[in-house]
Amino acid sequence: MPLGCRSCGSLLPEPVLEKASPADFSRLKRFLGSFTGAGLEKQELAHLFVLRDVGNGKKIVGTVELLPCGAGTFYLCRVKVARHLRRQGIGRKLFRHALARARTSGAWDVFAVTRSREDAPAVKIARQLGASEIRKDELQERVVEPMIGRYSIQGNRFWRFPVNRAGS
Ligand SMILES: CC(C)(COP(=O)(O)OP(=O)(O)OC[C@H]1O[C@@H](n2cnc3c(N)ncnc32)[C@H](O)[C@@H]1OP(=O)(O)O)[C@@H](O)C(=O)NCCC(=O)NCCS
Repeated sequence: MPLGCRSCGSLLPEPVLEKASPADFSRLKRFLGSFTGAGLEKQELAHLFVLRDVGNGKKIVGTVELLPCGAGTFYLCRVKVARHLRRQGIGRKLFRHALARARTSGAWDVFAVTRSREDAPAVKIARQLGASEIRKDELQERVVEPMIGRYSIQGNRFWRFPVNRAGS
């Protein structure tokens, strides 16, 4: 279904989600900006998915990262949607995509960090997708600190998402 631009109201084609490529690195840093862009490392490109606006030179309009942390654990992070495309279900689709990938990669647990406000969009999405809120130390046992540290501004919330593997 076409999307609407929230700035000018024009209709836009459905963006395409693809694995990030090395050529995306500087563009990704710019897109992520103050939201974790400074901490982006080249080796993470292997775990990042980018949403591209096919009607606009494949410009990056969204991201999601699924970082393997060993022992069937994944960390879902860097979920961002360009402002002009927000509130049309894209953020939820990015979370769903990453969870589906985690499932097919044999995940037992997927963790994420969100801001603390109950009305923060990522908190709403986490609840809609059945995530349970956990304590920071439960997350720290499974996900390495430099990753969590990106978001360690005061008052974040920590989540475990259901993976629903067949037979588990
Ligand atoms: C979080 C983010 C990715 C959500 O993207 P999005 O495409 O706007 O999200 P969706 O349209 O899928 O919205 C999902 C739910 O969040 C809620 N929501 C979205 N934007 C909201 C807003 N500004 N205020 C309140 N609720 C909001 C809605 O309840 C929506 O559910 P509904 O469709 O059933 O009403 C986007 O806001 C963003 O890029 N924020 C900056 C980066 C960030 O904070 N990332 C989260 C890190 S975990």
